[in-house]
Amino acid sequence: MPTLTILGLESSCDDTAAAVLRSPGGTTAEILSSVVYGQTDLHAAYGGVVPEIAARAHVEKLDIAVERALDEADVALAQIDAIAVTAGPGLIGGVLSGVMMAKGLALGSGKPLVGVNHLSGHALTPRFTDQLPFPYLMLLVSGGHCQFLLVQDAQTYHRLGGTIDDAPGEAFDKAAKLLGLPQPGGPAVQNCAVQGNPNTFKLPRPLLDRPGCDLSFSGLKTALARTRDSLADTQGGLTEQNRADLCASFQAAVADVLTEKSKRALAAAKDIAPNLTGFAVAGGVAANTVLRQNLLTLAQESRLPFIAPPLKFCTDNAAMIAWAGIEKLRSGQTDDMNLSARPRWPLDQRQSPMLGSGKKGAKA
Ligand code: KG4
Ligand code: ZN
Repeated sequence: MPTLTILGLESSCDDTAAAVLRSPGGTTAEILSSVVYGQTDLHAAYGGVVPEIAARAHVEKLDIAVERALDEADVALAQIDAIAVTAGPGLIGGVLSGVMMAKGLALGSGKPLVGVNHLSGHALTPRFTDQLPFPYLMLLVSGGHCQFLLVQDAQTYHRLGGTIDDAPGEAFDKAAKLLGLPQPGGPAVQNCAVQGNPNTFKLPRPLLDRPGCDLSFSGLKTALARTRDSLADTQGGLTEQNRADLCASFQAAVADVLTEKSKRALAAAKDIAPNLTGFAVAGGVAANTVLRQNLLTLAQESRLPFIAPPLKFCTDNAAMIAWAGIEKLRSGQTDDMNLSARPRWPLDQRQSPMLGSGKKGAKA
């Protein structure tokens, strides 16, 4: 198997990233560089990612990120074997910026172009970080995604369930906003919850009464808002202890739901693939210590290794895109100048479209 050196680009949401990976074969990979320019400050005033601002920032930062990634890797463009780029799903302006940049680099250097599904980047991360063999179960939990994927090989994914409305990170961010805590909400809620009691307020566990692995988080956020409002009505405001108890109760509800649904997803995955090798997580919410502990216990009970890659490869980055590019290239697939940017691109081709589920439709 020839050694491959791949440049990866990522710009599908609010991180502009470029990375260089070198793999001699198998799941061995050396991360020669991984550069990420976040945009948190640019969007902070708006309470969410503004697509047009994101796209402009990507255009400004993409060439700088590529130059730095090549520099830090000490590799010239001529020494790169292919250029991998996120071609969807994501905010279309950002995805387009990355795809155009990658096409320019491929055309200029004469190197092959490989379009990568952003979700496959997340899903294949435990391969290069932990050398995890197929098939495994992946729980992807971030600000924009929430789904259970049985990863059978680099091309075959079975989506066992996912959110029908908000992603859990989005729910944490909205919860923080409701409670007057800073963004990003996940770490803020987690820190505040340390002083709280998770049993003080009874928040719902959405969709647990229904079979299957689908999840819902928007009702939980509404329940939190109602509890906050009734406290404010009766007491004239929230005490610090109320806030901590609300955070702890909210965090416990999210963790409970994700853990119970993970249990079901593991059973479903084992039915399809009895030789399941592990249970992996990715996405920013995987940083949550309560959730992580619950999932670790669950994996141990199921006698499976629990794989949580280092956080810098769990959140959006370009190393995962370069790796997914390597796996795609090794399966003999490349793209050409007709590669298009796709706002929606389900990994599981058999998956029916989730239209009408949630205000803006299921994002994950
Ligand atoms: O994967 P990620 O960096 O990117 C996007 O999805 O854009 O995930 C970011 C999300 C945010 O919503 C953030 O609040 C959440 O991950 N997050 C957490 C924690 N750390 C980050 N949620 C819960 N607990 C945490 N410790
Ligand atoms: Zn992502």
